[in-house]
Amino acid sequence: MVLWGQVLGALLVILVGYLCLPGLLRRRKPQEPPLDKGSMPWLGHAIAFRKNMFEFLKGMRAKHGDIFTVQLGGQYFTFVMDPLSFGPIIKDTQRTLDFVQYAQELVRKVFGYQPTEGDHQMVHSASSKHLMGDGLEDLNKVMLNSLSLIMLGPKGWSLDASFWHEDGLFQFCYNTLFKAGYLSLFGYTKNVAQDLLQAEELFMKFRRFDLLFPRFVYSLLSPREWLEVGQLQRLFHKTLSVEHNLEKDGVSGWLCYMLQFLREQGVAPAMQAKFNFMMLWASQGNTGPTSFWALLFLLKHPEALQAVRKEATEVLGEARLEATQFFTFKLSALQHTPVLNSVMEETLRLAASPTLLRAIQKDYILKMANGQEYLLRQGDKVALFPYLSVHMDPDIHPKPTTFKYDRFLNPNGSRKMHFYKEGKKIHHYNMPWGSGVSICPGRFFALSEIKLFILIMITYFDLELMDSDTPVPPMDPQRWGFGTLQPRHDVRFRYRLKCME
Ligand code: HEM
Repeated sequence: MVLWGQVLGALLVILVGYLCLPGLLRRRKPQEPPLDKGSMPWLGHAIAFRKNMFEFLKGMRAKHGDIFTVQLGGQYFTFVMDPLSFGPIIKDTQRTLDFVQYAQELVRKVFGYQPTEGDHQMVHSASSKHLMGDGLEDLNKVMLNSLSLIMLGPKGWSLDASFWHEDGLFQFCYNTLFKAGYLSLFGYTKNVAQDLLQAEELFMKFRRFDLLFPRFVYSLLSPREWLEVGQLQRLFHKTLSVEHNLEKDGVSGWLCYMLQFLREQGVAPAMQAKFNFMMLWASQGNTGPTSFWALLFLLKHPEALQAVRKEATEVLGEARLEATQFFTFKLSALQHTPVLNSVMEETLRLAASPTLLRAIQKDYILKMANGQEYLLRQGDKVALFPYLSVHMDPDIHPKPTTFKYDRFLNPNGSRKMHFYKEGKKIHHYNMPWGSGVSICPGRFFALSEIKLFILIMITYFDLELMDSDTPVPPMDPQRWGFGTLQPRHDVRFRYRLKCME
């Protein structure tokens, strides 16, 4: 027994030594960015980073400037904080910065999906065909029907909808957008009432997974939560299985295109279900939270709400429903809403915080905008966090924490696209969708569905905060770097369908 204890102890020492030694030996080489390994062997700065990435990076920038390398859990990340220097990283003309490898490791862990060669290209092709241009017009119609079904019920308008309903705004937006988006992309069976119930149950499971997600990615779950995540993953794999898909009509062209590719590659049905889970996550994890922030900002800024309402009335006319009617809506109106477009850009500036990551395949020289050259080391990752370095830069966006609904409008009402830093025109002035090879391929559909939802809410409904003085809630710091942020707590509101006069 004593011997075993000694052997195990020795093995542990060897393991710890093996993990920590490269970190202990690592030194900053000439021309490399400042290196900050943190005080904990192997962990480096992982604890502070995971606790609040925004504050951590702000501190590091104050200490080291616009470029620095930090150790996080045995890996080295070089953060580039000067947006005028993003170009070479995003364009990667040297072809040495790889997005796919890192993303594959993550999806294997989170969704259990084993990517195949060509997946990334295929997802972008499917999205160009079905989530943009003509394909998007078809999907918008489906989305409008889904929103009608969810917000009015399968029988259309009823008297009940014209009474006040109270809810949490975040819960309401996330729930509505999730169900409408899920049914529009993953299809209906012949029993619509049953589909609505199933979508509701799926949302509750999705929310649970969503709440555990940041700590799951960082491997910080308790054993009980770890088991729960496993159960949730299995439930999603079952619900989104190929057999269940066969029972459905009207699965979107987007999903059909991708599943056909996987079948042709000989991907097993069980793995296709895992792919579906990954697509459910990508397509539904951000739209509900973004809708929440957009509606909340409108409710907190009456001048913005008035401007969007005025624009909506101009393009849609006065909207009212009669008994058993569904929403009727000129979908072409979505092309003529510069004010709402600016509200969306401003909302995403304030609420979307992606991290762009690339694995460095071989030693790489990064030339910064100020002419200084840095050596980035093979095997490390290079990272951009535009929320801090772009969205919140007061030089690019004066008073960056303030919601300004017309920030992205020119005085003549057209879209404003010229922004400056240090007097130089800046290309990347808002980056909610990421950029370069990993830019969100669903961004046009995402914007359409959120705009559709907001236009419905402000034209067909009366809505108000229960307490008009309630402040905008703070962001949940666990979610920095994971797409659209979520509030620390919900905000109560009430809504009712406007009646025929
Ligand atoms: C407001 C809503 C949304 C936001 C803020 C958002 C944001 C993002 C971001 C930042 C990325 C890139 C992540 C990276 O660089 O690693 C991404 C990737 C992705 N998004 Fe979105 N997204 C939204 C909605 C959607 C929707 C509605 C769909 C599909 C219907 C979608 C599909 C995808 C897919 C498939 C990827 C992975 C692309 C790849 O592997 O290259 N997203 N999204």
